[in-house]
Amino acid sequence: MGWLFRTLNSSIGKKVQMALSGLLLCGFLVTHLAGNLFLYGGREMFNHYAKALEENPLLPAAEIGLLLLFLLHIATALRVTYGNKRARPVAYAKTACAGGKTIGSATMVFSGLLLLAFLIVHVKTFRFAPDRSDLYAMVMAAFQNKLYAGFYVAAMAALGLHLSHGFWSGFQTLGADHPKYTPWIKRLGLAFAAAVAFGFASIPIWASLR
Ligand code: HEM
Repeated sequence: MGWLFRTLNSSIGKKVQMALSGLLLCGFLVTHLAGNLFLYGGREMFNHYAKALEENPLLPAAEIGLLLLFLLHIATALRVTYGNKRARPVAYAKTACAGGKTIGSATMVFSGLLLLAFLIVHVKTFRFAPDRSDLYAMVMAAFQNKLYAGFYVAAMAALGLHLSHGFWSGFQTLGADHPKYTPWIKRLGLAFAAAVAFGFASIPIWASLR
């Protein structure tokens, strides 16, 4: 067992856990966005989808798995960041390093913390709402508050920024690093980040303008 803990606690072990959990969370984002797009189909369509989801016997296990993924991703991200700071208390004088610094890569901790704040507010309002009999009405009513809708749009900008670096960086950590393919993985990451951020952000914008 000792070797397992040593591997998981090594710096590469932590990066692999962060990459794997991050890429699995990308899978969750795709399914969550696909489900949310039913909102555009109207009350009956969205509530029908939400009811089918709630009646799925696998949902409690999926929710626990999702919670563990978020916790693992956040905890390893903070440990890796803290470990990097301890190893190099004085930052590089020159910030443009060989990996190619982008706004996305430079703001990972900041965008991640904003997303954590978003998640707490979001899950509290939507998942733990006292009355969940008409989820469509609940979501539409929440976005009538322009401040709340604006907070969502800002959080989705942070999500796009986070994914613009996190997506390809996750693949790179898992070994997909090749002069020929890496530029394509980076392009795919940018397209994925833009599609997810715009897809989610379109909902509060549309709902608040109705
Ligand atoms: C416009 C954007 C979004 C809308 C309208 C939306 C809507 C919803 C709704 C209605 C629920 C409750 C579902 C249910 O209990 O059956 C929910 C739950 C949840 N959402 Fe979102 N969501 C959005 C964006 C996001 C984003 C970007 C993330 C992650 C970064 C996220 C993470 C979650 C999580 C973790 C849950 C709890 C899942 C569960 O326990 O079943 N959501 N969302």
